[in-house]
Amino acid sequence: MKSFQVNLGNRSYSIDIMPGMIKKCPLVLNEHNNGQKWIIISQHNLMEFFGFDFLKELKNNKFDIDFITLPNGEAAKSINEYSRIISQMIEYGCDRKSSIICLGGGVVGDVGGFVASSFMRGIDYFQMPTTLLAMVDSSIGGKTGINVSQGKNLVGAIYQPKRVLIDPALLESLPKEEVNAGIGEIIKYGAIWDKKFLVEVRSWLNDINNFPFDRAIYTSCKIKAQIVSEDENENGIRRILNFGHTIGHALESHLGYGKIRHGEAVAFGMKCSGYISERLNLITKDELLTLLSTIDNLPLPQLPHINANDLLPFIKNDKKGEKGKLNFVVLDNIGNAKTTTKVDEDLILESLKVLN
Ligand SMILES: NC(=O)c1ccc[n+]([C@@H]2O[C@H](COP(=O)([O-])OP(=O)(O)OC[C@H]3O[C@@H](n4cnc5c(N)ncnc54)[C@H](O)[C@@H]3O)[C@@H](O)[C@H]2O)c1
Ligand SMILES: [Zn+2]
Repeated sequence: MKSFQVNLGNRSYSIDIMPGMIKKCPLVLNEHNNGQKWIIISQHNLMEFFGFDFLKELKNNKFDIDFITLPNGEAAKSINEYSRIISQMIEYGCDRKSSIICLGGGVVGDVGGFVASSFMRGIDYFQMPTTLLAMVDSSIGGKTGINVSQGKNLVGAIYQPKRVLIDPALLESLPKEEVNAGIGEIIKYGAIWDKKFLVEVRSWLNDINNFPFDRAIYTSCKIKAQIVSEDENENGIRRILNFGHTIGHALESHLGYGKIRHGEAVAFGMKCSGYISERLNLITKDELLTLLSTIDNLPLPQLPHINANDLLPFIKNDKKGEKGKLNFVVLDNIGNAKTTTKVDEDLILESLKVLN
């Protein structure tokens, strides 16, 4: 098992990575079992794939445990689902000592984490991510939340898990498109933090069927853990994790949620942000080429023709904009990133040409 820490004082926790971990989980989780009520929050398909076996194994090991499922897709991140879970937990006899295990992708982790943050003013929860995106990104850092009709993630909390347990073997059942979307975020870590890693990922993508997930997950988690340890509340360095996200979020909103996966949109957004960085003379043409050729090595869906002016309102709406100024993440050399307010609308519009 490979383990390392997210260092946040008394909220520190470990990230443990081990293929086949789900089968050993009773052993790993035993030290946290004090006879309290446990709830697995998951989705029905995931319970069928591996959740029911996991539940049985924990029950056999003296865990007092039940499960609750969420629907699939963004619809699960709603106030209705949130309140349904809370009611069910009360019916199951949960109290202040209870613990939640989020077994799923970012949707399950975001809702389950938010329930944990607020149920009886906060209970322990464990992240057991099952998508690549959740393994390298959403399960770490404590961002939890749900959507309202006005927008995504507008209700939520930063509330850290007790532990993150990553079993890369769970990716076997994950559809290819979901895997590729996760690789989008992996490329991001190389671009913003570690040029050598970016070049490595590019070469791995030449033979995507043999992509070394264990290594990619390990390095990505380590980078995210380091950034979150430095800036839990996203007042500074954590913002660079939004590289590619301003344009990515705009693509998601413009095309409609469910039409493009988050990691795919981020991959496209990074192409534009790379272009912008080069135009600001922050990276060389060669560096831009390294980034673009890496992203082009990733199988992504064909985008419809994007009319730049249709995207602009969503870009302006991006919640990272502060006091009317857009805080844009750019690369300052590959393997290093920063935010700037110097990216104007014209340059953003111009950058969209790399998408068509
Ligand atoms: N909290 C954060 O820091 C953070 C960061 C990034 C994204 N997010 C959120 O994450 C969500 C997206 O997460 P996601 O990309 O993981 O999608 P997801 O959770 O919707 O999962 C995608 C699909 O894959 C299925 N699935 C999951 N694991 C599987 C497995 N092992 N085998 C087979 N099928 C499996 C799910 O049932 C689902 O249908 C968004 O709501 C986004 O806002 C949160
Ligand atoms: Zn993201």
